[in-house]
Amino acid sequence: MEGEVEFHTFVGWIHRLRKQGSLLFIILRTHKEPHAYIQCVMKGKLAKTCSKNPGVYREATISLTGTLHDDARAPGGVELKVTDWELIGPSDEEIEGRIRPESGPEVMADNRHIQLRGTHMSNVVKLRAAILRGFRHHFEEEDVTEVSPPTIVQTQVEGGSTLFKLKYFDQEAYLTQSSQLYLETACPAVGDCFCVLPSFRAEKSRTRRHVSEFTHLEMEYAFIDFEGLLTRLEKMVKDVVKYVCEKKGDLLEEVNPGMVEKCKTLVEEPFIRMKYTEAIDWLKEHEVYKNEEEKIFYTYEDDIPEKPERFMVDTIGKPILLTHFPTHQKPFYMKTPADHPEVTESVDLLMPSVGEIIGGSMREGDYEKIMDGFKREGIKPDPYYWYTDLRKFGSFPHGGAGVGVDRFVCWLGGIDHIRDVILYPRNCNRCKP
Ligand code: 4AD
Repeated sequence: MEGEVEFHTFVGWIHRLRKQGSLLFIILRTHKEPHAYIQCVMKGKLAKTCSKNPGVYREATISLTGTLHDDARAPGGVELKVTDWELIGPSDEEIEGRIRPESGPEVMADNRHIQLRGTHMSNVVKLRAAILRGFRHHFEEEDVTEVSPPTIVQTQVEGGSTLFKLKYFDQEAYLTQSSQLYLETACPAVGDCFCVLPSFRAEKSRTRRHVSEFTHLEMEYAFIDFEGLLTRLEKMVKDVVKYVCEKKGDLLEEVNPGMVEKCKTLVEEPFIRMKYTEAIDWLKEHEVYKNEEEKIFYTYEDDIPEKPERFMVDTIGKPILLTHFPTHQKPFYMKTPADHPEVTESVDLLMPSVGEIIGGSMREGDYEKIMDGFKREGIKPDPYYWYTDLRKFGSFPHGGAGVGVDRFVCWLGGIDHIRDVILYPRNCNRCKP
């Protein structure tokens, strides 16, 4: 009705608080669009009583009612002129000293629950959610079924050295390293499938891309060949990128300025495909040494460590599907082409600035070859009877991969360290908060 004043109420947390003369400015964090952050202003007596309240500090929960006015200087272009307020959950002045811009990583980590409330961190958490939605959207479109394998298991997947052992009542069990074996068994039940679950690796080294618990998005495809697997992985990554740019482009731009534009090229161009032997040749051509002092180059037998791998992908500056790793470097389940038993049908997707974000392969379908693999790795086959049964009762060509979701977020968000994209990161020195 003409002339009638419309009042709005917003509930949230005091993100910022500033007194200016008789005015009190509050940036309220609501997380509800279109006013996720809203500038609110009080004046006169209202400002005085509010600022004098012993519970009104940053992070107090407050309800603010008033009228909305356009203001180009305010976030979101509007300002709430407050006419009424109510303190819901008081805060304390201690909040100001908890973390400061100069606080070191350990102080930040101890106060992770506070750090998360910051603009950047909460944006990263939202970006991660958008990325996961992008994956689920892709799988929905491709008719891939989500399944939920267990995370307490009695089998290893990626080598005994990174297993977390635990006492499970009176038996020995592990925290899962990968849900792959279970996904393989779900294929004959539901066809193509995926899961999003934590995987655990007892990684002793503290690098900027390893944690002890990571979000592992794994998928398994039935009746696929290696070429088909590579094509599907590339399409998956491009679909997720397109989804995030389309649905949350502003958020991505805020977290990683310029990325939306870069993504336009990324989704248009085919990913580079490179065999492992070609990568070894590339390192030699670019004078990357295994032993700098003695000028020794990497050979086809060597494992390429993180540093030279990063140098290669950063220099090339484009996603690389690195394929055909040597058999002796890879786990028991990987398929080897009949005419080349020395290599596996395996792939790592390498991204500039992060390195490997996906690892996958075709799976060995032959019972005897799986048994040979167990022998090679010194694994007792008995606990794997349900896995080897897959090769007894209706074997079929299949393959899949695992995405390190945290590394994917690092890559898309342009974030240097994996701990900065995880709600509560775990490494060999930290299991709190
Ligand atoms: O290459 P990985 O070890 O492959 C597997 O686990 C397969 N079984 C997956 C499958 O085929 N279903 O791990 C897959 C991805 C890596 O590319 C990396 O992005 C991530 O998981 N990852 C880690 N991320 C953070 N911290 C760690 N310690 C990680 N280990 C692996």
